[in-house]
Amino acid sequence: MNTQNPKKTHHILILHGPNLNLLGSREPQYYGKTTLESVNAMLEEEAARQNAELRILQSNHEGALVDALHQAIGWADGALINAGAYTHTSIALHDALRAAAFPAVEVHLSNIYAREPFRHHSCIAPVCLAQVSGFGAQSYLLALRGLICHLEKQP
Ligand code: DQA
Repeated sequence: MNTQNPKKTHHILILHGPNLNLLGSREPQYYGKTTLESVNAMLEEEAARQNAELRILQSNHEGALVDALHQAIGWADGALINAGAYTHTSIALHDALRAAAFPAVEVHLSNIYAREPFRHHSCIAPVCLAQVSGFGAQSYLLALRGLICHLEKQP
């Protein structure tokens, strides 16, 4: 083991917004049949492989998601956020992501641009590093890998 240059642990906040607690049974034609528990287990497995530590929260309440972003300041190196329907409405989450300032990746299971027009606008995209949309549960994994690649490139 190289003790001179140990690999840095990346602290990553994972936020799941409203209705995502129903994953697995909710509109499987859009969101697939994978439960939130399985998504989180998949993320934990990947995190263990990549030397990352996760803090995971699902909430149906906008303020709780804002609070989680505030509480992660000083701890998180980055975040994944599937803000669910708040993606399309929440200036509060836009402001909180901007204030938190760590890189965040916007995640969607479905391709929001192939759905109703009201889903085509994201309030949080301008304050996110990137967006992954449309790969089902794999969107989270791709987003985590992308975020870690980005963090590893930082000095
Ligand atoms: C979603 C897409 C949103 O438009 C929707 O409100 C969700 C889930 C997705 O993961 O595809 O709740 O964020």
